[in-house]
Amino acid sequence: LKQEALKNVETLSTLEELNAFRLKYLGKKGVLTSYLKKLKDLPLEEKKQVGTILNELKDLLEEILVKKEQEILFKQEDILPGLDLTLPGRRPVVGGLHPLTQVIKEICEVFGRLGFDMVQGPEVETEYYNFTALNIPEWHPARDMQATFYLKNGSILRTHTSPIQIRTMLERKPPLRIIAPGKVYRCDDDVRHSPMFHQIEGLMVDKEVSFSDLKGVLTYFAKEVFGEKTKVRFRPSYFPFTEPSVEMDISCVICNGKGCRVCSGTGWLEILGAGMVHPEVFKSVNYDVSIWQGFAFGLGIERIAMIKYEIDDIRLFFDNHLYFLESFK
Ligand code: PHE
Repeated sequence: LKQEALKNVETLSTLEELNAFRLKYLGKKGVLTSYLKKLKDLPLEEKKQVGTILNELKDLLEEILVKKEQEILFKQEDILPGLDLTLPGRRPVVGGLHPLTQVIKEICEVFGRLGFDMVQGPEVETEYYNFTALNIPEWHPARDMQATFYLKNGSILRTHTSPIQIRTMLERKPPLRIIAPGKVYRCDDDVRHSPMFHQIEGLMVDKEVSFSDLKGVLTYFAKEVFGEKTKVRFRPSYFPFTEPSVEMDISCVICNGKGCRVCSGTGWLEILGAGMVHPEVFKSVNYDVSIWQGFAFGLGIERIAMIKYEIDDIRLFFDNHLYFLESFK
């Protein structure tokens, strides 16, 4: 057996042959293994002798096989010139979440803690959901061709996430609390604007929802996302689908090794629009305005990410340069 095995091992020239050989002699059902199994039937003296011989052969074969394997591998090196088997391996590059995805996730988690469900809506919308149902009349400047992308079939690309308010209210019964992130489209394109950007819409409807709930929820959000010390202020504003309407600013201070400074001329940055749901909007979804009240808000993700990470060009989010993306891992 020994001679046969040693003779055979010399003829091995590929890894497949080597593995077949290993299986034939040393595998679970291999020749040598079956002999070793039979040992127990022999008388004690013989068992010792034969056992020693077999085990020595097993060790010898294993040793030879390892050497043979190396030999074969080094021969393969000739086939692939320049292959250095001793080089350390390269780590695979692991991807990370896009900074905008990270911000969306963080904000949705903050509102999730306040009981808001995440919902989504279509990016191709009708003028009805995007404008009419939101009390945006025909003559409103937002309907101007300049801001809206019109499709050949008469649909439009949604210009904000507010149509999701309408779709959700039609689908669900009040009370409800939703948060809806998504892409929106407007035809302007410069350093500050991109034809596609992201918003998050929020809507809460219940029997007793007041303006102080709006202030409380949005103040909590600002402190969670921008830090406990952040101050907020509300300025009166106008949106056709909310009344009263406000814009919320956050205070912002940028600190570095040398000291701190305010981030804008006034120290305030506008981050979202909000207001109490307009009765006309409730009427378009058949909610009884004598029972239900609500507040809504909409915020721009890129704007928030730019403030948070001090980025000055919105287009960086969409260029997909690795040096930019990798700094957010
Ligand atoms: N849809 C508004 C915009 O895009 C933001 C907004 C949403 C304002 C909800 C008030 C309430 O500018």
